[in-house]
Amino acid sequence: MIRRGAPVVLGVESSCDETGFGIVSEGVLLGQGLASSARQHAEFGGVVPEIAARAHLEAAVPTLHLALEDAGVQLGDVTHVAVTSGPGLATAVHVGLAAAKSVAWALDRPLYGVHHLAGHAAADTLEHGPLPERSIILIVSGGHTSILAVGDLVRDPIEHLGDTLDDAAGEAFDKVSRLLGLGYPGGPAISRAALEGDPTAFSFPRAMLRPGDAPYTFSFSGLKTAVARTVETLERAGEAVPVADVAASFEQAVVDVLVTKAVRAVKDRGLDTLVIVGGVAANARLRAAAQERCDAEGISLRIPPIRLCTDNGAMIAAVGDLLVRSGAAPSGLGIAADPSAVLHGAQLPLPR
Ligand code: KG4
Ligand code: ZN
Repeated sequence: MIRRGAPVVLGVESSCDETGFGIVSEGVLLGQGLASSARQHAEFGGVVPEIAARAHLEAAVPTLHLALEDAGVQLGDVTHVAVTSGPGLATAVHVGLAAAKSVAWALDRPLYGVHHLAGHAAADTLEHGPLPERSIILIVSGGHTSILAVGDLVRDPIEHLGDTLDDAAGEAFDKVSRLLGLGYPGGPAISRAALEGDPTAFSFPRAMLRPGDAPYTFSFSGLKTAVARTVETLERAGEAVPVADVAASFEQAVVDVLVTKAVRAVKDRGLDTLVIVGGVAANARLRAAAQERCDAEGISLRIPPIRLCTDNGAMIAAVGDLLVRSGAAPSGLGIAADPSAVLHGAQLPLPR
């Protein structure tokens, strides 16, 4: 039920291969529509920007209809529009921007540009309510891996404690999946293969965990190379590659580093809440390991339900809803795509 006079925010997401529309009112997800072009990219082993953009164009109107139907609202009920304006694939972001601008202009509603990664963080609020006064957020997606210190998601500046020096966690899953012949997207494929595997079969490197290493910084390219070497060595020796064991051991190496550094950040900052978001947060081994470590340390762990971990429109609507309720000024119809926007704040462009 929508409270009389409450904002009804439409969120639009198109930064990668998911076309998402979500509708949120006062922190409550009313409904959403989602389409994915992942299958069209599978044969290329990764997202092809032109194919993604074309798929967004085809999916936009039907997916918006799905969201409205799911939420049980009319387009005219929408009071505000929020859209991912970066970071992401430029051609893909343009399609969502054009869709969002069309709706905002036709309905004469305010438009808010949203940072995609703030959307991932806000997704958790749809399930678990407002974030505490301060928390540590581990963002693990296909393009980004960061540990952030966060206060009010839309009012306070977002502090980066550490990022990845090279590959993002999801990117490592995608690349290792490709070299194991498991296809794209790699995360779910590796997880499935790993179910039958022994996570201790291979001891792959855990980078940046030595004393003296930057405490919250990640690096995954060495791990990817180590997996590639192992596979090559086995193949050269004419041995069958134990795909399940390699997948499980790789997954365990990623999870160990992510959980160690994220929990360290929570403790170093004297906080008690860890939030894990982004596509890789859908990973069952990560969810279980993080839960175990947080229970042992007395840390409260928040991870969105799996359907809200990977890209969707609801998470962008969630940021829009927070911005509207915090009284933020709209970004306006002139906003441009910012494909490499760094996360300093939830709204784009950053208000001066
Ligand atoms: O957040 P997201 O949907 O898109 C970006 O913003 O990048 O994340 C996509 C990434 C992909 O790299 C995909 O392989 C990974 O999330 N992913 C997973 C799982 N599901 C998706 N990684 C590990 N385990 C999963 N179950
Ligand atoms: Zn994402």
